[in-house]
Amino acid sequence: MKFIIETYGCQMNVADSEMISTIMENSGYELTDTLTDADIIMFNTCSVRQHAEDRVIGRISNEVARKISNKNLVIGVVGCMAQRLGKELGEMNTKIDFVVGVDNYFKLPEIIEGLYNKRHFVSSVDMNHKEIYHDIYPIRSNELNAFVTIMRGCNNFCTYCIVPYVRGRERSRSVDEIIKEIKIAGEKGIKEVTLLGQNVNSYSWEGINFPKLLQKVNKVDGISRVRFVTSHPKDISDELIETMASCDKVCEHIHLPVQSGNNEILKVMNRNYTAEHYLNRISKLRSLIPNIAITTDVIAGFPGETEEQFQDTYNLMKEIRYDFAFMFKYSPRIGTKAAEFNNQVEEAVRLERLQRLIDLQTEITHEKYKEQIGQIKEVYVEGPSKKDENEYSGKSRDFKITIFPGDESLVGKLIKVKVEDAVGWTLKGHLVE
Ligand code: SAH
Ligand code: SF4
Ligand code: F3S
Repeated sequence: MKFIIETYGCQMNVADSEMISTIMENSGYELTDTLTDADIIMFNTCSVRQHAEDRVIGRISNEVARKISNKNLVIGVVGCMAQRLGKELGEMNTKIDFVVGVDNYFKLPEIIEGLYNKRHFVSSVDMNHKEIYHDIYPIRSNELNAFVTIMRGCNNFCTYCIVPYVRGRERSRSVDEIIKEIKIAGEKGIKEVTLLGQNVNSYSWEGINFPKLLQKVNKVDGISRVRFVTSHPKDISDELIETMASCDKVCEHIHLPVQSGNNEILKVMNRNYTAEHYLNRISKLRSLIPNIAITTDVIAGFPGETEEQFQDTYNLMKEIRYDFAFMFKYSPRIGTKAAEFNNQVEEAVRLERLQRLIDLQTEITHEKYKEQIGQIKEVYVEGPSKKDENEYSGKSRDFKITIFPGDESLVGKLIKVKVEDAVGWTLKGHLVE
């Protein structure tokens, strides 16, 4: 039996899909990357914004049509939307065979086998507030980068966010398991690891906090680069910044979601920091790691946001000059506090504010990328560029896509590229010896 997983949402879902693949293969199922070969199609879904859900619902409706020609085809939904909607999904689309939530992936083989015996819809979405995925070392969907989950869940309850409801409470994995997983990746020739968690700064295992974990990861042989997402501005300590600066493998990049530049809005968002605190963290980062790239997430049109409050976000982005930003218009999520607020901002205003942020950031990103011209960057080569097959593409330590004329033999290597041009979000250059 062959299965395929289509993955949506954040890196946590990417890592979970690799874990699901291991669980399935250990039970005799075979992973395929061709939809038409699959006996089982799974959608690993995201609930963070309405748009993320709508997209996948559209995809599922397309795929269920295959059941007309392939009566044995099994279609399942896993991930955050599965967790959020549970059996409701089966009512929305009766062609869905199973819905399995984020804490029940161990049950997948058994559930699927059960379906082959007596075909009726199954929903399994119980939550478990302890870490349950022990001793499974994922099949990597990507041979160059290892995404390693270090903690799951979130206790922060930002008022706009569905994640704590679908991912449950924070729990950390043991240091030994994490290091073992990274050693396995290093032995396979993977040079880059990304440590994953909704709030990596909350990592805690038997007295080992996140900076201490980073120091241990920094020592693993074979690995050359260490990244991590996501950091919460309220928890980013001096110890962490100093550790980033002193660990040679930790890359010069931090993703530090700001969400808003206005203190009142930050307060209603339950973010637990002020714009001043955020700026203080940025200056500490920049003073200890001068060439650090900083990226962020922002939300436009949070309930009650006035034009002046929005201006604070705009001006903060202008002041910080992020290398890149993920910008979203506020999307009300049922079950979160902010969705209940009676001062929702009109859709047209949300969109218009979002557009202003995008215009500003596009300009800043272009300027920042142009500033790189003349520099020599270390690039981890990932493969041919999508646009031109004679060009190869990889990422710099500061997380910038860099393309250069190259060949297949360079894939998986760390090379030096001299930057000659910057086009959009891409640096262009030539290999230097
Ligand atoms: N744990 C991470 C990621 C959370 S989800 C963190 O705390 O940063 C990724 C991003 O989606 C968030 O940073 C936020 O900017 C955005 N987001 C979350 N809920 C949203 C909502 N209801 N509407 C719009 N954007 C949202
Ligand atoms: Fe959501 Fe806030 Fe937790 Fe991030 S820290 S996952 S935004 S509740
Ligand atoms: Fe989406 Fe779930 Fe990640 S809601 S952002 S896939 S944790």
